[in-house]
Amino acid sequence: MGFTNLALTLGLLATTLSSPAHAQNPTGTLYTDKATNITFSTWSIPASQSSESQASPLTFGLTLPSKALETDATDLIGYLHCSSPTGWCGISLGGSMTDALLLVAFVDSNTVKHTLRYTTEYALPAAYTGNATVSPIHSDVSEDSFTTIVHCKDCLHWEQKGSSGRASTSSGQMDLAYALSSEKLVGAAGCADEARFVRHSQQGTWIAFLDEGAVAESYRDWVGLTREGNNGC
Ligand code: HEM
Repeated sequence: MGFTNLALTLGLLATTLSSPAHAQNPTGTLYTDKATNITFSTWSIPASQSSESQASPLTFGLTLPSKALETDATDLIGYLHCSSPTGWCGISLGGSMTDALLLVAFVDSNTVKHTLRYTTEYALPAAYTGNATVSPIHSDVSEDSFTTIVHCKDCLHWEQKGSSGRASTSSGQMDLAYALSSEKLVGAAGCADEARFVRHSQQGTWIAFLDEGAVAESYRDWVGLTREGNNGC
């Protein structure tokens, strides 16, 4: 399925399922990335009714180690497709902006940069100081969107200055959240961990149900596709 079709299908799904009036918790839709052949469980945020664009503003996908439904995984391979190439987009791996690990991506000179952030309050999140790393696998930048696939090691448990938490993949569900802004970052050309974001124009939360499509026997092979990052740090 081409990405447009995928986005539309998922957009419709998410429109139905993410509205508070239909508070259900959908399992993701399978999507295989053509460049890497990695299969993800994906969730797309529906296009806003006020927006002229019919495209989803953000799709997040993940794949987890093969035993993640039995034993809590500590890492994931994440897929992020965002319609904000001039700004940034991000995912909270704990379902809220505060007290959860935030994975943020943005484009600088046609390169996708990544930064892990953490905050205990609703203010610019600073760089995460805990033990987690993001390694790029593949990225793609176009005029109206960008895509990035990363291995996020130790990203499913977090601890910083006495605040801690974790995702429990063995529970079969994860609290997730997203945010994005098309406003330019301050310091995008420097170290990604020091770049300053303008507050998001769009954000939201959802509960992702994990099923067999979210775990993969090939997970370790896919982790082997990671390459050197270029975060300008
Ligand atoms: C200058 C930077 C930022 C400011 C001032 C800020 C502020 C806020 C505020 C006030 C809220 C509460 C809901 C609202 O009234 O809109 C919120 C929600 C949220 N923010 Fe941020 N934010 C910033 C950056 C970020 C970043 C980099 C992320 C990365 C993922 C993020 C993720 C979220 C999410 C997922 C929510 C919704 C869930 C929740 O309420 O916890 N924010 N933000």
